[in-house]
Amino acid sequence: MKKKIVVLPGDGIGPEVTQEAVKVLVTVGQKFGLDFDIQEYLIGGASLDTHGVPVQQEVLEVCRKADAVLLGAVGGPQWDEVPKDKRPEMALLRLRKELGLFTNLRPVKVFEPLLNASTLKSDVICGTDILLVRELTGGIYFGQPRFTESLGREERAVDTVEYRTSEIERIAEVAFEAARSRGKKVTSVDKANILATSQLWRKTVKHVAEEYSDVHLEHMLVDNCAMQLIRNPRQFDVILTENMFGDILSDEAAMLTGSIGMLPSASIGKGVGLYEPVHGSAPDIAGKNLANPLAAIGSGALMFRYSFNMEEAAQIIEMAIGMVLNDGFRSQDLVAPGQKLLSTSEMGDMVIKKVFSV
Ligand code: IPM
Ligand code: MG
Repeated sequence: MKKKIVVLPGDGIGPEVTQEAVKVLVTVGQKFGLDFDIQEYLIGGASLDTHGVPVQQEVLEVCRKADAVLLGAVGGPQWDEVPKDKRPEMALLRLRKELGLFTNLRPVKVFEPLLNASTLKSDVICGTDILLVRELTGGIYFGQPRFTESLGREERAVDTVEYRTSEIERIAEVAFEAARSRGKKVTSVDKANILATSQLWRKTVKHVAEEYSDVHLEHMLVDNCAMQLIRNPRQFDVILTENMFGDILSDEAAMLTGSIGMLPSASIGKGVGLYEPVHGSAPDIAGKNLANPLAAIGSGALMFRYSFNMEEAAQIIEMAIGMVLNDGFRSQDLVAPGQKLLSTSEMGDMVIKKVFSV
């Protein structure tokens, strides 16, 4: 069997961490008789510098036809001043929108050996296992109109939050289906005390829930959710939320695992899936072989799970990551006295070693 993967390393630490993820993907693929046809393209600032656009149309087309896409990270301070339609982040938004990737899955699972790496007390975070389901192609990220206008002495800027019933229904279905195979609980997060979009969100989620009587549904306001996540994260199973709330809550939730360097993500829709670490391009440590590749490697596990339907391969990668941590190996974001510091590439090699011993 052969699968076509498009790799988009991007900016900052993106190239370093995707390289390790590819190493692991290829190794695990071999174990299961799966070959990869891997094609690499520029994206984000790297693409802007070479081609004058953050993502070329041709790259979007290649991604559409691939079996899966692995992305590193986009952005960096050197592109902060470019016009907004050329910003590296626009590449990500176009990929999400044009590939129809309306579902963003961000699993937040605390690895036992990292309990003490979090800034939060270990008895609060231990046992945390959350699946954050973020709507990815709607809301304020894409709503129209959006503009900045001059009013003479000052400027005025407008963004628009917009949701349709059908957009909420399809993401709610994903969340309920996921909850069915997990803890059977969905917490739908909104700001229904203020926002019209959130009122529609809540009404629609309630409606969808009627088809899932085996799943317990609760609604939570986003400000309360931000607090509950660090007060008692074990209360959550599946969190379902809209685009911007999901963006913010997933960074917060990342800290439950000790480091944002641990969080993988999967963006899926009807066609090809896109897999990327939640962390950004971390320009301060880029090119130094210091970055934690485990979120990228974990994103590879999600590719096996969601795009290739190879649950066993996904679990082998996740187990290998757990074993590496259990043995006390850490990248610099997580290292503490008494532990063994590994570079980005050494961490990738160590995961591969464990894959063979699973
Ligand atoms: C994320 C990132 C992106 C987002 C940025 C880079 C556009 O923060 O994937 O969480 O806001 O969605
Ligand atoms: Mg984010």
